[in-house]
Amino acid sequence: MTMYRRVFCNFVVIAACVVVYGCRVATVGEVPDGGPYGLPVWAYHVVDPVQPEVIELKGLVHLPDSAREYDASVTESFKDPPDWYPDEHPVPPTVVAGGVGGPAMACGSCHMMSGVGHPENADLSGLPIGYFVRQMEYFKSDARKEPARMNQIAKTLSEEEIRLAGEYFSSLKPRKTVQVIEADTIPKTYISSLGRVRMLHPQGGTEPMGNRIIQMPLDPLRLLNRDPHSTFIAYVPLGSISKGEQLVKTGGAGKTIPCASCHGEGLRGLGDIPRIAGLQPVYVTRQLISIQNGHSAGDGVAPMKPVVAHLSQEDIIAISAYLGSLSPTS
Ligand code: HEC
Ligand code: HEC
Repeated sequence: MTMYRRVFCNFVVIAACVVVYGCRVATVGEVPDGGPYGLPVWAYHVVDPVQPEVIELKGLVHLPDSAREYDASVTESFKDPPDWYPDEHPVPPTVVAGGVGGPAMACGSCHMMSGVGHPENADLSGLPIGYFVRQMEYFKSDARKEPARMNQIAKTLSEEEIRLAGEYFSSLKPRKTVQVIEADTIPKTYISSLGRVRMLHPQGGTEPMGNRIIQMPLDPLRLLNRDPHSTFIAYVPLGSISKGEQLVKTGGAGKTIPCASCHGEGLRGLGDIPRIAGLQPVYVTRQLISIQNGHSAGDGVAPMKPVVAHLSQEDIIAISAYLGSLSPTS
């Protein structure tokens, strides 16, 4: 097992404006949540400017169910990421697997070879190919905004690479990776500068749930080593799951189109419209808020924008909690 060193450095301020969305200086009248574009900071996994600890991964890494072994520098690599369970998926194309001849940012590094991804990125497993290719076009043209990563990555890819990546990820079977828990008080957490992962605060303590979704790995070490078997907890406000079920079944707030009429039976996708059952709740919230604010195109083969136009942030949180509680497969 790798050494997992947590250095407690009382409120060391990491150099101003950490990577993610560049500098933002709040001005009077802005949304108090103040994430990218003034959207809620918790949904976008923005790195905390104050890091209570520094985590370093070192040494050789083994995982309980894998015969492979990697140096920690490989488990952290974007260019040549680990493939822990090669028997669980087809041979990935170079654009996904990385290594020699691959891109600087291989898809398998963030989304993993299993495609299940992490809450701060996205689950690509089983996405319809048409939807996948359209998202890549949106990222290329900035119709969908994710400037720190996907906009740049998409712009470097050829049509052929996008097609190969899309065929690979759409062939993968989705897996349930998240347990949704309703709570009114939750452990104190922060977003680490290492992988933008939400971690338990080293000093412990609790805080009110508030109107948020707080999602973290059950075992941060497995997650940081990019173990596709690692799983997550999503804390959501009390009553969210049943409220979300109502909204999903009715389309919400006086609207009459249930989500399943487009997203298919069990919300597991229909033609080019993607599955939404069993997605990471914090991802769903981020997508719906982005679509609502014009930061994600969200049209495609049917109009998704009008569906979200009338939803409050609380509604979106409830919908995300309910969708996260569902099984992604029948
Ligand atoms: C550095 C990390 C990183 C790498 C590497 C990466 N992605 Fe992403 N990807 C993200 C993030 C973050 C998101 C979520 C964007 C959002 O929240 O809107 C995302 C979202 C996506 C989506 C949208 C999924 C959906 O359901 O709408 C697609 C498609 C995608 N990525 C494809 C790729 C492909 C193809 C590659 C390899 C060429 C790749 N990604 C490499 C971070 C990454
Ligand atoms: C009229 C058809 C329609 C209805 C009704 C509909 N959607 Fe969608 N939805 C779509 C389409 C089409 C897309 C893909 C948009 C694109 O290509 O960007 C989509 C995309 C999404 C996504 C993004 C998935 C991803 O992987 O990023 C989410 C989340 C979503 N819808 C949730 C919902 C919810 C929740 C409801 C009900 C409240 C709903 N949708 C109702 C058509 C619909």
